[in-house]
Amino acid sequence: MDIGKRFDQVADKYDTSDKFERSKIIIKNILDKVPVNKSFKVLDIGAGTGTIDIILSPFVKEIIALDLSEGMLNVFKKKIKEQGIRNIRIYKKDIFRDGFPEKDFDLIITAMTFHHLDDPAEALNHLKGYLKKGGYIAVADLYKEDGSFHSDNTDVKHFGFDENDIKTWLEKTGLKKVDYRIIHSITKEREGKKKEYPIFLTIAIKK
Ligand SMILES: C[S@@+](CC[C@H](N)C(=O)[O-])C[C@H]1O[C@@H](n2cnc3c(N)ncnc32)[C@H](O)[C@@H]1O
Repeated sequence: MDIGKRFDQVADKYDTSDKFERSKIIIKNILDKVPVNKSFKVLDIGAGTGTIDIILSPFVKEIIALDLSEGMLNVFKKKIKEQGIRNIRIYKKDIFRDGFPEKDFDLIITAMTFHHLDDPAEALNHLKGYLKKGGYIAVADLYKEDGSFHSDNTDVKHFGFDENDIKTWLEKTGLKKVDYRIIHSITKEREGKKKEYPIFLTIAIKK
């Protein structure tokens, strides 16, 4: 089963208060470091149910949200319709395989998606081609973990990333680091105990 179909199966249960909280923290940290304004055109890769984009939408001109899972995108579409949000365009698309015609983005965001990709450095290099000169890319994902974060590791290609991974990505792509920090931690119950899974956010600029 492909990853899109796998996310289709969990789409209706995906939105929980902790995901909303995590998305708020990611956006707050992006807004602290990137000079986002109402002229910004934003691309979100692996947008899912839109938890990130719905929070960001009032601050920018428009958001293009891409995901492989029709089920996740249906939840997203229902929410933007209910909330009357008009500046988000949603496409079921794999930009790494199919490309995308617009290449004038001020900001690309990808949250909790890179650990599903075979080659994140190659992915970042591909995404760089969609940024304007001076545009930003923000990647939020799991810090290196022991493989216990997901209860099923099918479609999990990496057990998180550390500072060295990110340094390598930036060296390979020529993107310049703006910021890297641990911004959040997800608590899960594992073997009867609480376990923390830190989340990093790295922001880079295309010079
Ligand atoms: C864990 S969810 C994250 C959703 C959202 N960004 C968030 O922070 O809640 C990962 C999403 O990435 C999508 N995805 C994985 N690989 C993808 C790809 N190559 N292109 C587009 N979406 C992808 C999945 O379908 C899924 O909806």
